[in-house]
Amino acid sequence: MTLVHFDEGNRVPGGTEPTGRNTGEDHGMAASATAGNRTVLLTRSGIRVLLRNAGAGDLESVNELHARCSVRSREGRYLRRRETLRVSEWQRLVDRRHGLCQVAFVSRAEDRPIGYATLTPTGRPGDWEASVLIEDLWQNKGVGTAVAGRLIDLAAENGVRFVITHVAVGNRPALWLFRRLGAEVTVRHDLVEARVAVAGPRGRTTPAPR
Ligand SMILES: CC(C)(COP(=O)(O)OP(=O)(O)OC[C@H]1O[C@@H](n2cnc3c(N)ncnc32)[C@H](O)[C@@H]1OP(=O)(O)O)[C@@H](O)C(=O)NCCC(=O)NCCS
Repeated sequence: MTLVHFDEGNRVPGGTEPTGRNTGEDHGMAASATAGNRTVLLTRSGIRVLLRNAGAGDLESVNELHARCSVRSREGRYLRRRETLRVSEWQRLVDRRHGLCQVAFVSRAEDRPIGYATLTPTGRPGDWEASVLIEDLWQNKGVGTAVAGRLIDLAAENGVRFVITHVAVGNRPALWLFRRLGAEVTVRHDLVEARVAVAGPRGRTTPAPR
């Protein structure tokens, strides 16, 4: 497995020094390579996924992605019914002062993302919240695991200690994914908080049973 990093194009202002790098194998990737703000992930099923920083101009294609997603997937991501993102919401998500936002592609056509993912500081020091949305057609192929794994690497590069996510108790794919990445899971009413420790030998935990 070859892991190539050419620079630190995803550092967020105010982030601390990198805490180290994971191999792709830690996160369900066969391999990854980064150049500037673009990373190519090879999923364990052999799909090449390009991830790059999202920009303001990606809103239209991200809303088209929302339209291709099922209601269930959108509810999984937002924990409520959502059809589109507003300009103001997207501007905040892509604003590097408020975290990181990445869009995912499986072809050279960068006007048709198959997913997007965000990492946002929660306000609690060292805790950032991760969210991932993968288009239904591309789910269950290892893409979400690879993208979430990349988020954890980006979190490490930004000095983050814990990546957390909140999902509905019935969201088994998301729970399985984050447990595979080493998350500790806490049930709070009808939500589950999954918390991945970023510092140290990240991701080197044994996957929990389903
Ligand atoms: C959650 C999500 C990101 C996962 O993405 P993905 O590309 O499907 O993820 P992967 O294929 O890497 O892994 C999903 C795993 O869940 C498993 N899975 C799927 N349905 C399952 C079910 N009903 N019960 C148990 N496991 C299930 C899959 O088998 C797979 O595990 P495997 O690789 O060991 O076979 C994707 O389903 C999604 O975008 N959902 C809607 C948004 C959402 O809920 N986001 C989570 C909040 S951040």
